Amino acid sequence: MAVLSTPPQQYAALTRFLHWVVALMVIATIPIGVIMLQEGLSRSTQDLLFILHKNGGVIIFLLVVLRLVWRAATPAPALPASVPEWQARVAKLVQGALYGLLLVMAISGYIRVRAGGFPVEMLDAIGMPSLVPPSEALAERAQAVHATARFPLAALILLHVAAGLKHLVARDGVFGHIWPPLGR
Ligand code: HEM
Ligand code: HEM
Repeated sequence: MAVLSTPPQQYAALTRFLHWVVALMVIATIPIGVIMLQEGLSRSTQDLLFILHKNGGVIIFLLVVLRLVWRAATPAPALPASVPEWQARVAKLVQGALYGLLLVMAISGYIRVRAGGFPVEMLDAIGMPSLVPPSEALAERAQAVHATARFPLAALILLHVAAGLKHLVARDGVFGHIWPPLGR
């Protein structure tokens, strides 16, 4: 039916809501990850930042998975004709890479912590056992992945946010695909 096949004007409400919750959490989690490793922090500050980072990262993982499922189940809005084909292709690639890198960051962080024998407080509280065996070698490899993947993640976030702001200023309707997070 024509009505059903017409692309919507916006992403589904849950997709929009999760986009902004995940965006805020990621934008907080990256600096927390860097700051918590600095010398000279008091023990209690460092512990608090580690707890926020690890558990926040697990929540990001769960929200990204939920988002991917919901995104697959609901139609996406079409880009306006004013967006050149190459830009539409780059945007799709960047958005896919953002999802992928968030999963890589969360999974490598989890493995680094669990293989190293450290707690993930939220998961310990619900009695979830570690999904990986204790192994220093595995922990080190996961740490290397975690420390490396942050660079492409940060670069793509900057590119994505710059493109988002460009659409906001151009008022071409693309920003309205993902905004507001609630309602409409
Ligand atoms: C860490 C921060 C962010 C991440 C990881 C992220 C990720 C994503 C992803 C994966 C999509 C694709 C939607 C989907 O297919 O489910 C998307 C869409 C979008 N994002 Fe972000 N985003 C972030 C922050 C921002 C910010 C700050 C802005 C505003 C300047 C923004 C503007 C947009 C817009 C306008 C779209 C819709 C694009 C379209 O219709 O093709 N994003 N974002
Ligand atoms: C999308 C989610 C995540 C992002 C964006 C992220 C980002 C970062 C960043 C930028 C750093 C600093 C890296 C460095 O300076 O070497 C870091 C460190 C760290 N992250 Fe994450 N992280 C995420 C999820 C997690 C999760 C889920 C865990 C554990 C459950 C975790 C555990 C750690 C640990 C233990 C470190 C310190 C690594 C070390 O020992 O040097 N992260 N993270």
